[in-house]
Amino acid sequence: MERQPETELMNEEEQARAYALADFSEPHENFVELFKQSFPGVVVTGDVLDLGCGPADIAIRFAKRFPDCQILAVDGAEMMLKFGQEAIEAARLSRQITLKKIYLPTDSLPHKTYQAIISNSLLHHLQDPRVLWQTVKQYAQHGASVFVMDLMRPRSESAARDLVEEYAGNEPDILKRDFYHSLLAAYTVGEVEEQLEREVLLEFSVKPVSDRHFIVAGTV
Ligand SMILES: C[S@@+](CC[C@H](N)C(=O)[O-])C[C@H]1O[C@@H](n2cnc3c(N)ncnc32)[C@H](O)[C@@H]1O
Repeated sequence: MERQPETELMNEEEQARAYALADFSEPHENFVELFKQSFPGVVVTGDVLDLGCGPADIAIRFAKRFPDCQILAVDGAEMMLKFGQEAIEAARLSRQITLKKIYLPTDSLPHKTYQAIISNSLLHHLQDPRVLWQTVKQYAQHGASVFVMDLMRPRSESAARDLVEEYAGNEPDILKRDFYHSLLAAYTVGEVEEQLEREVLLEFSVKPVSDRHFIVAGTV
């Protein structure tokens, strides 16, 4: 099935609320667990950059796992950041996580480089996937741990519909709609390997980790 791009920013209020309220505990806990497995023994203590952070659930889980790091979490959608700020305050992590409205690509992050760069489910939103990989190259410090997770495009629209029913069957229609469009907009593992080759990010490896997710991990 051909890739069908979707809108980059998730800035509709209803859409952002549905996303913020959805239960992503399984894939998001898995995100942090797979980060740890990909970088065994690494204790993240410095500045971390979360690209396309949405309502900050990943940043919160990462902050709890690595309490000595400082996270800058960026997103271009104001509405997502509003829900993210509420979640950070509820988790009492305002001192460890800072949110910033940034539309990528950008030259205006507060630090020149970061010790770790993480991103979940941003890549498939980007009209140009080079934005993610070039941002990683621009802001990763030497030795940085880079960890990206995203959806994998299924073989067909009917396979995408099956995944929506299996994993979001009880969620509001707007979330199901977005999940479906995200699956159609997602990249295949082969396409991501080509993106990394083109950007000469040869130290990164791509690996499927579930029926709908792959990870990309590597040390810069
Ligand atoms: C599917 S959400 C993922 C949110 C979060 N990482 C998570 O896993 O819960 C994708 C996010 O990327 C943001 N986004 C898409 N394109 C962007 C861009 N060019 N610059 C900044 N944020 C972007 C959207 O606004 C949205 O909040």
